[in-house]
Amino acid sequence: MTELRGKFIVFDGGEGCGKSTQAKMLETRLQQHGVDVLNIRDPGTTRIGEMIRAILLNPDHLEMAMRCEMLLYMAARAQMMKETIQPALDAGRLVISDRFVSSTLSYQLGGDGLTSGDIRAVAEVTIAGRWPDLTLILDMPVAVSRSRVQAKYEHRNDTLFGKDVSRVVKDRIEQRSVEYHEQVRDNYLKQVQADPSRYQLIAADRQVQEVHEDIWAAVTSGK
Ligand code: TMP
Repeated sequence: MTELRGKFIVFDGGEGCGKSTQAKMLETRLQQHGVDVLNIRDPGTTRIGEMIRAILLNPDHLEMAMRCEMLLYMAARAQMMKETIQPALDAGRLVISDRFVSSTLSYQLGGDGLTSGDIRAVAEVTIAGRWPDLTLILDMPVAVSRSRVQAKYEHRNDTLFGKDVSRVVKDRIEQRSVEYHEQVRDNYLKQVQADPSRYQLIAADRQVQEVHEDIWAAVTSGK
């Protein structure tokens, strides 16, 4: 295996783009090469983060203000940074995160006037300046990803603290309009264009193995 692009790798993109599957495939392949991997999801992973996740995604919380929403994602992330990511990086492990600040820069950008400067400033405090080395944006048309989300929710089984919270409804964010999700996709594409040294665009509307090979090439291409 050639040199890795870094020790902190993020998978991001719209719902149903295959992030979790691809994160798992990358984890397995890295482990086969003897790399010690921590694979986590944002928001969540820690006890406190999972509680914040439940507040954020609860479809009943329709009155939540966008600045509250942004800060709750950051709060969950701050806990995850302190409790899991930073200790893992300090121990020399490779961290794969399913979503990170790049999600906030796509989903909360523009809401209630939030600018990318506002979000980055809060993120800087949240993650104590440890930005990911590489963010892989899995991109596909919104119509395709939304049809995949439908399928996911029809079969969704989920637990929270051992309690069965299986749902047949979409979560609070997934329920938003097609226009909102088109804007989210556009915000991801703009992030890639603005910072090609730390971001890589991956066409995700293809066979799982083909997508994985592109990801592997991106991760092992060195600096
Ligand atoms: P997930 O289902 O991919 O784990 O993501 C949870 C939801 O939270 C998803 O709809 C995207 C949304 N989200 C944001 O709106 N902002 C964020 O910063 C993050 C991390 C997720």
